[in-house]
Parts: sequence; C-alpha cells; structure tokens
Amino acid sequence: MVEYKSIVYEGVIGMKVETLEVIQGDYMLKDYAETAKTFQWKDAEKNFSWFETGKVNMAYEAIDRHVETDRKDKVALFYQDAVRKESYSYTDMKNQSNKAANVFKQYSNLLKGDRLFIFMPKSPELYFGLLGAVKMGVIVGPLFEAFMEGAVYDRLLDSEAKAIVTTPELLNRIPIDKLPNLETVFLVGDSVEETDKYIDFKKALESASTSFDIEWVDKEDGLILHYTSGSTGKPKGILHVHYAMVQHYQSMKWVMDIRDEDIYWCTADPGWVTGTSYGIFGPLLAGATSLVLGGRFSPDAWYSAIEEYKVSVWYSAPTAYRMLMGAGDSIVNQHDLSSLRHVLSVGEPLNPEVIKWGMQVFNKRIHDTWWMTETGAQMICNYGCMPIKPGSMGKPLPGITAAIIDNQGNVVAPYTMGNLVIKKGWPSMMRQIWNNKEKYEASFMNDDWYFSGDSASMDEDGYFWFQGRVDDVIMTSGERVGPFEVESKLLEHPAILEAGVIGKPDPIRGEIIKAFIALNEGYAPSDELKVEIQQFIKKGLSAHAAPREIEFKEKLPKTRSGKIMRRVLKAWELKLPPGDLSTMED
Ligand code: PRX
Repeated sequence: MVEYKSIVYEGVIGMKVETLEVIQGDYMLKDYAETAKTFQWKDAEKNFSWFETGKVNMAYEAIDRHVETDRKDKVALFYQDAVRKESYSYTDMKNQSNKAANVFKQYSNLLKGDRLFIFMPKSPELYFGLLGAVKMGVIVGPLFEAFMEGAVYDRLLDSEAKAIVTTPELLNRIPIDKLPNLETVFLVGDSVEETDKYIDFKKALESASTSFDIEWVDKEDGLILHYTSGSTGKPKGILHVHYAMVQHYQSMKWVMDIRDEDIYWCTADPGWVTGTSYGIFGPLLAGATSLVLGGRFSPDAWYSAIEEYKVSVWYSAPTAYRMLMGAGDSIVNQHDLSSLRHVLSVGEPLNPEVIKWGMQVFNKRIHDTWWMTETGAQMICNYGCMPIKPGSMGKPLPGITAAIIDNQGNVVAPYTMGNLVIKKGWPSMMRQIWNNKEKYEASFMNDDWYFSGDSASMDEDGYFWFQGRVDDVIMTSGERVGPFEVESKLLEHPAILEAGVIGKPDPIRGEIIKAFIALNEGYAPSDELKVEIQQFIKKGLSAHAAPREIEFKEKLPKTRSGKIMRRVLKAWELKLPPGDLSTMED
C-alpha cells in the first residue's frame, strides 16, 4: 500500500530535511533533470493545430479540435450542484459555445478585443459563455460571484467592459447607470424580463445556431483579464494572451500528469486564475474529462463527488485540505476514494502535516504547485517523478528560470532568503496590466526578471522554499486580498477615521484579515460597531475581504507623509520588534 519512503537527513544549515521518495508510480515526465536541460517552449508548439495551419484561437484548440478526433463523444464536463446534474461531451461543448458566440454577436456590439465580463456562480452557462466569447476573439473578465457593488464597479470601469453575463440575483450589484461603456447585460435565470439592454441568455441560447465561424486571432491577442490585488492601489487587470495555451497544455502533462482516462477535478472558481487556467483551458486543451461541482464546500459533498465521479486527479488548495483534515478521518473512511491517482495543491504554503495526512488517508502524494495570477500557469512545482520535500514547492518547470535575488539584483547563495524572481518570457506571462503601463514595467527588473513579491530560498538540490510575501498582500483561504482596497472601503464608513489592514497568521486559513481602526470623534468602540463594520465590507466589497478581527486604537502608526505603517501593525500583532521607525511621525 505505502507508495513512499521517508528519508530524513541533516540539511546544510543544520535543520532536518525530510524527503519522501516515490517507490511506485509511473509519471509521464520521467526525468525532470534531462527534460529541463534541453526543453524549449517552442518544442511544445507542435501540439497545436495552429502549428500547421497558422490559425489561432484558444477555444478552437480547447474544444473544436477534439471534435475532429475520437474524443468527439467523450465527456468534457460533468456538472453538478444542488439542482442540476448534467454532462457535456466535446461535441456538446462545441455546439453550446458556438450558440453563445452567436448570441453575443446577435445581441451586442462586441468585437474582437472588446471586454465581456462574466459574473455568476459556477454553472454550465458560465463555461459556454466564456468559451463562446473567446471564439469571437473577445477578452473575458471573470468575476467571483461574492464581489459586491464597489468591487464590481472598479473592475468594469477600469476595463471599459461592453457587456456582462450575470444572474438576476446579482444584478443589483452592477451599478449600470455609472458604467457608460456597459451596453448589454445577458441574464441567466428562469424568468428574465427582456429590454434592449437585458437579454435572456438561456432563451437566446436555445434558438441560436450551433455553427459559428471562429475569429482567428494573433497568438499575442488578449484572452482573459483577471483582476487581482497588489499592496498598493486599486486591483490591477492582468491580461493573458492566447499563446498561454502552450504552458497550460504542457503543465497539464508534466505536473497534473493528465491522461485520457482521467477524471480531473479542479475545485477553484473561475473568478480566480486557477479556475480558468486549470479549471477550463488546461483540462480542455488536454482533452480531459473535468468535474465542476457547484455549491459550497462541505467535506461530505467533496468526498462523495470523488467517489461518485471516480476522480483520479484532484487540484485544490491548502485551506481546503486543512479543513478536510479538520473534519476527521472517519468521514474519509465512509467513502471509497480509491480512484484518486494523485493530488495537487496551489495558492498558499502546503504544510508538511497536510502532505503526511494525505499519504495516510488517501495513500497518495500531494504535489505542491507555485504560481500566481501574473504568471498565468504553474511555474515551480513538485513533479511526480521527483521526491517530495515536505514544505518545499518543488522546482521550476522545464523552460522556466527562477532565482532568488537580493534587493540589488544579485543572485544569492543557496539557503539564503531573498526575492523570488522569474526570467521574463514564459508563454503564459501576463502581457499587460490594463491601463497601467508603468505598473506593468515596474513588475520587471531591468526588463529581465519578473518580481513575484514572494520571498523564498533555494536549496542545493534546486528545490524552492516559500517564506512569505515581501509586500503587504494578504492570502486568506487561498484568496488574494489587497489591504489598500479594504482600507479604502473602511474609510467610507462614517465612524472610521483611519484604518490599517494586515494578514494575521491562522492555522486553517493561512491568514485572516485583521483591521486596526481609529474612530472619528463622537464614536465609541463597541462589539456592535465591529459587526456593523464587518457587514459594511461584506456588502461593499465581498465576504472574503471582510476583516475577521477588528481592534480599535486611539491612533494608528503613520509615516510623516501620512501613510499607515502596516509593518508596525503587524509587529504589534505578532509581538515582534517593529524595525526601523525613523520615518514614523511622533
Ligand atoms: O504568495 C504566493 C501565493 O499566492 C500568491 C499568488 O496569488 P494569486 O495571484 O491569487 O494566485 C493564486 C493561485 C495561482 C503568490 O504570490 N502562493 C501561490 N501558490 C503558492 C503560494 N504560496 C506558497 N506556496 C504555493 N504553492
């Protein structure tokens, strides 16, 4: 049964390092080191039909191409939620995405390069709409369903979105009157009142044609726009292009080890990059069968889904694994999870305890993968063919150069902490920060190294070890939250004079959001006020951005120029020395 052996040895700097060697296991990437030595990304281009034809479109490679092969009747998508249970073959996906493209064409003025947003819970229509828009050469902006008005507004305004697909329930969060570019709203619901602007998407799909002439694009044309948070300013729109498919596909093979017989389940929501790169594009490019499970997280529902659909490759996040771990092993034993071949993780540090637990309860390895919205696809991973060092993210993909550099740009010695950087030019690299050339350029050092904003170290075997963010970005339950966005919203509350927001370490969620608040005159700290402030963020931004902890302070630490010093707040919280206070006001 046991498929690994644990070897503990003394690391160079004296700490104990454990590696878990695979004893059995047959992975497609046989020899990491050999492949990494010679592989170049253009070697992977021959996997695509445009390599021969010159005609490029991600959606063609993801769907239509398979319909011309034995995969035409293969299930592309199993969909299940509380009320729906459906399956769609590759031929169905082609027909449905063609219908969606025809609907967009008929009812809106969307042209190649325009932005269409999709703001709704997981549902088959979300997938049809997204892929249909891609077939038109339109850039898709997916929005997580939990976003509230303020967050929705910022994103639609910045991208000048022309159309949106949403549900009647979410409509009141879209301030349509304040969005001059937003011309058409496609509503997915059972009874939709239509006007010139509001189109009943499902009804329109029914009568639309299943044939559509795909818009061929340039490899470097825009595909998808994901808004994500930095430590300063409003959320930034990260643009990826069709050429990203090269890395999506190749990583599905090397890292996910996906095969034709697999049932693949990525639990991420398409509002986040994992849910598009590895919830839509990657598995479809690889011709895989995917499960999409709607509804909320529940250990029983999740294990039942693995059992029922015989999931063999499962991609989720440390927070979810920690919650499953917390739910206890007896619930695992009520399910037959023997279909699992291997398990993968992304979004936050994968704790060694979780890896050990996975070995015990699933008898499977959990492979860590490191990447980010800006990288578009997996970058540093633990591959099946390599031993796992629990606590390490693994090694760069063949074709990727990663390094640890100091603040002057020098590569540092092994085991030294520094900035995790990636050599510019990988296929799925962001190509723009929407409307913000300056910020885009500032993401690279000397137009050469991309700054991830993470600090890490590399060991003498070339494994990378994550340490934390170098900026103030918060990762809570695997979701990335910018403190600035939360602070700006807090300041809109009448009671609040000043606000500073930090990530506080949490055993389950990785970090939770903690807000330090100074009140305006006439307001007194109280538990009721805390709840009211939490509600204010939940309603104004989103539930996941609401501070779980609030602490009232007379005054917050600020620089002389008036900037809140989050570093000092964090030091207070963690009872650490605050560091250099020379820029702090009296
Ligand atoms: O800090 C790193 C953390 O998540 C950040 C990127 O967040 P986001 O753009 O939302 O993308 C998340 C999923 C692709 C990174 O800068 N992160 C991501 N993966 C890992 C990780 N931290 C530690 N270990 C990982 N495997």
